[in-house]
Amino acid sequence: MKNSIAIFSSGSGSNAEELIRYFKKTKSAQVKFIITNNPLAGVINRAKQLGVSTFVFTKEELRNCENLLDFLQQNYIDFIVLAGYLLKIPPELVTSFPNAIVNIHPALLPRFGGKGMHGQHVHAEVLKAGMTESGITIHMVNELYDEGKIVFQEKCAVKPNDTPESLGKRVLALEHQFYPKIVERLLAE
Ligand code: GRF
Repeated sequence: MKNSIAIFSSGSGSNAEELIRYFKKTKSAQVKFIITNNPLAGVINRAKQLGVSTFVFTKEELRNCENLLDFLQQNYIDFIVLAGYLLKIPPELVTSFPNAIVNIHPALLPRFGGKGMHGQHVHAEVLKAGMTESGITIHMVNELYDEGKIVFQEKCAVKPNDTPESLGKRVLALEHQFYPKIVERLLAE
């Protein structure tokens, strides 16, 4: 059973907040800290409010990840949760955390994934393709964007008048509903 989580997040951090709140409540794991590449990320303040520290690493430190790896290992991190993290995970990190890095994607992979497919771009593409359903995908992370083993998907409707924003809201609500529970399940595997 793994139980020491580091969350990687580059942005607003609403999923990080849900994860922190969930594990504070269930006590089935501990979110030890947040790692970010963005010193202005909203996640920093959200985490602080909940008593969780955020550590900012430069892009270079995150690519050439020796210091990061040391930091994670010194703190006995055994599971990494990506939540709105925009940089690629270097192969050394994947090798050091086998089957222990998970990501959430705001669409139904394998469509609408890959480089550049994040945030509102994803929802705009889903609408452009005329899809009637979208949803979330939770998957393990390998060296390629959005291509690790899919562990969970949940669908929602795309409505005729949807904008990327309105669809994004519906999808984000699903992320909040399911990500913590699925992470908890993966920790127990
Ligand atoms: C989410 O839609 C997530 O699927 C994607 O980035 C967004 C992050 O939102 N990877 P937040 O920072 O958790 O609010």
